[in-house]
Amino acid sequence: MGLLQKILVPFVALALAFCFYSRKEDFKPEMLKGKRVIVTGASTGIGEQMAYHLAHMGSHILVTARTEAKLQKVVARCLELGAASARYMNGSMEDMIFAELVVKKAEELWGSLDMLILNHVGSSYFGFFNSDVGHVQKLLDINFLSYVTMTVAALPMLKKSAGSIVVVSSMAGKVGFPLLVPYSATKFALDGFFSSLRQELVMQNTNVSITLCVLGLIDTENAMKTVSGVFTSPAAPKEECALEIIKGGALRQREVYYEYTSTKFPLLIRDWVPDLLDYLIRRSYNTEKLK
Ligand SMILES: NC(=O)c1ccc[n+]([C@@H]2O[C@H](COP(=O)([O-])OP(=O)(O)OC[C@H]3O[C@@H](n4cnc5c(N)ncnc54)[C@H](OP(=O)(O)O)[C@@H]3O)[C@@H](O)[C@H]2O)c1
Ligand SMILES: *[C@@H]1O[C@H](CO)[C@@H](O)[C@H](O)[C@H]1NC(C)=O
Ligand SMILES: *[C@@H]1O[C@H](CO)[C@@H](O)[C@H](O)[C@H]1NC(C)=O
Repeated sequence: MGLLQKILVPFVALALAFCFYSRKEDFKPEMLKGKRVIVTGASTGIGEQMAYHLAHMGSHILVTARTEAKLQKVVARCLELGAASARYMNGSMEDMIFAELVVKKAEELWGSLDMLILNHVGSSYFGFFNSDVGHVQKLLDINFLSYVTMTVAALPMLKKSAGSIVVVSSMAGKVGFPLLVPYSATKFALDGFFSSLRQELVMQNTNVSITLCVLGLIDTENAMKTVSGVFTSPAAPKEECALEIIKGGALRQREVYYEYTSTKFPLLIRDWVPDLLDYLIRRSYNTEKLK
């Protein structure tokens, strides 16, 4: 007990002091005014909502996804909401040449870039792992390799602007989730790549921030359709989720947890009692409803 206290008390004090010391300034929407931002996967869901928030804050926006008709509507709405400018580029992130072209387009349009928001995901199945290795490879291309490709292409501009990279991940990128094996693998890959890169940027005195976003279930149309009846946790609103991601990026936070308590607290027990967390996760599935 005495020894535990000797270790624990200074440790907690140090952790608190560190938190206090590293506390960042408050978020102000003006932080995004006139900033040049790419948002991927912005034709629907959280990406679309991020575009609208950025438009409202007066950013220059370049949105991308595959469906041209939806992107045209998003751009029109962004202009109504007050975007400094809004453009789109349609294409698939399966294609690394396209991923690079999106960053080139930003360079052409603005000559610089302040924030790269990587958010798109390819569609996958919601069910037990079906042994399809080809699908895992394809999903890694879309959900992971295109993120790496765009980051490599954007880093020279981001270094000059002291910009930010925002990576949208998931609880399934921090702890194993059943029925999401390929998806979960791509999200873990993002954590490995971007958390290591963040370390190197600091070591090289490169002022580019990397924000990894750990999201719980969000009420986007696609997610609601996918998990319907099977995954029984409550879903948080996509509009607020989009705003929290932008705030975290603007404040250069290392990670964003949304919804905070339902993501942060479970992860606190992950390293101490992983079997308990696994059990609680399994309990939130109703596999009888699985089609
Ligand atoms: N919703 C949730 O519950 C939840 C939970 C945790 C994490 N997240 C993460 O949040 C992010 C957004 O999720 P969301 O629910 O908003 O997804 P969503 O509504 O399904 O949107 C996905 C976006 O990606 C685009 N996309 C799909 N395949 C593509 C491809 N091959 N190439 C380029 N773009 C492609 C889609 O547009 P097109 O079809 O037009 O290409 C769409 O704009 C994702 O990173 C997801 O993993 C979501
Ligand atoms: C963009 O969308 C249009 C219309 O759907 C399509 O003809 C074109 O091939 C798409 N471009 C890319 C790069 O996929
Ligand atoms: C890094 O860039 C941000 C945003 O431009 C700036 O506020 C911050 O002071 C910079 N930090 C360093 C160490 O230069």
